[in-house]
Amino acid sequence: MNEKIVLAYSGGLDTSVACKWLQETYGYEVHCLTVDLGNLPDLESARDRGNEAGAAEVEVIDAKENFLNYFVFPALQANALYQGEYPLATALGRPLIAKLLVDKARAIGATAVAHGCTGKGNDQVRLDIAITTLAPDLKVIGTARENEMSRDAALAYAAKHQISVRQTTEAPYSTDENLWGRSVECGELEDPWAEPPADVWEWTRNIEDTPAKPTTIEISFEKGIPVAIDGDYLDPVTLVKQLSNLGAKHGLGRIDMVEDRVVGIKSREVYEAPAAVILIEAHKQLEQLTLSKAQHRMKSRVADECADLIYGGHWFSAHHRDLAAYVRSSQQNVTGQVRLQLHHGNLRTLGKQADSSLYSKELATYGENDLFDQKAAQGFIKLHGLAVQVQAHRQLLIDKRDPLHLAAPPISDKDETGDGTSG
Ligand code: ARG
Repeated sequence: MNEKIVLAYSGGLDTSVACKWLQETYGYEVHCLTVDLGNLPDLESARDRGNEAGAAEVEVIDAKENFLNYFVFPALQANALYQGEYPLATALGRPLIAKLLVDKARAIGATAVAHGCTGKGNDQVRLDIAITTLAPDLKVIGTARENEMSRDAALAYAAKHQISVRQTTEAPYSTDENLWGRSVECGELEDPWAEPPADVWEWTRNIEDTPAKPTTIEISFEKGIPVAIDGDYLDPVTLVKQLSNLGAKHGLGRIDMVEDRVVGIKSREVYEAPAAVILIEAHKQLEQLTLSKAQHRMKSRVADECADLIYGGHWFSAHHRDLAAYVRSSQQNVTGQVRLQLHHGNLRTLGKQADSSLYSKELATYGENDLFDQKAAQGFIKLHGLAVQVQAHRQLLIDKRDPLHLAAPPISDKDETGDGTSG
């Protein structure tokens, strides 16, 4: 009997070719697993193609709700943005896909799992690390990494094995999408000076095509999790889809960046992530009311740290467990509403409120009913500046020639180059 392998299967050309290739090269019985994270327009043709490619089965798992509850929302609570911009849609999906691959392998007694990620990207790193962390005994095969088939070679291979190819000119880009966002790379995007061609955008409208009138919405959070739009409580999938569509209509959520891949390459990537952009902004706004200054400062450090580890594929690490516990605990009072306006690609916060808000009008006001003791400020300032002043006097920190600490070279009155360009 042939050994069994579970293949992460999208139904696209590459993974269909991978399915056949695993049978031919290693003699595996291939079980295709398609994980629906909100990305799959055409499950039927994925099934058909899998059958054409000789799969023993094609199983489709709807993991949308688990994806949001256990991966996306914790990342939202952290405000995780890789290098300050990328909401990590693709990166967040990988550990869940890895977990489901491992579960499937256990269920059918497979000895290996496979994926079609290339050897230059982040996704192989994430899947390999997650799979081997969860199941050290399983072999992991990266089919594209091993056979390095070019696009033409893959097309030829598909033709030879009667695997149907829908569009021969299929996607000039490499894309990945799920509920949290859409990632696009390769093709014309490889020139960072070139504006992204119009056809990279599939979700979001161009500014010219967005509605003339703004839309105002109110998002409710409970402990840092979005639960309602305009007072309507929605299940996570509906809520995120609704925001995604609304944001896309107003041209929100386009991100265009050069990012640092795990494998050391700088890469130009384009994202569409309207729901993520709206929710992270709204969530940050609510945290302004509900977190202390110290929590706020620590949380933004943790956000960077979380984003880095998610990007780098360390989801199933102790470091992540520790940070996640901090983030969860920080959200106890992040409950309230944020009112936002969407218009011509812009997101503006119009208002925010929370029951346990730390904002105190009586302390902040310059009007009547001021409870703040302005006289107490004097004594406070004395102590707050004390150490700075002691050091300045003892160590003669204030240099008369450079009181601003600019370390500017002494100004020379002679133009040494003689060509009149200096000074
Ligand atoms: N650069 C992004 C990331 O590393 C997106 C990757 C997209 N993956 C893909 N197969 N096109 O998460």
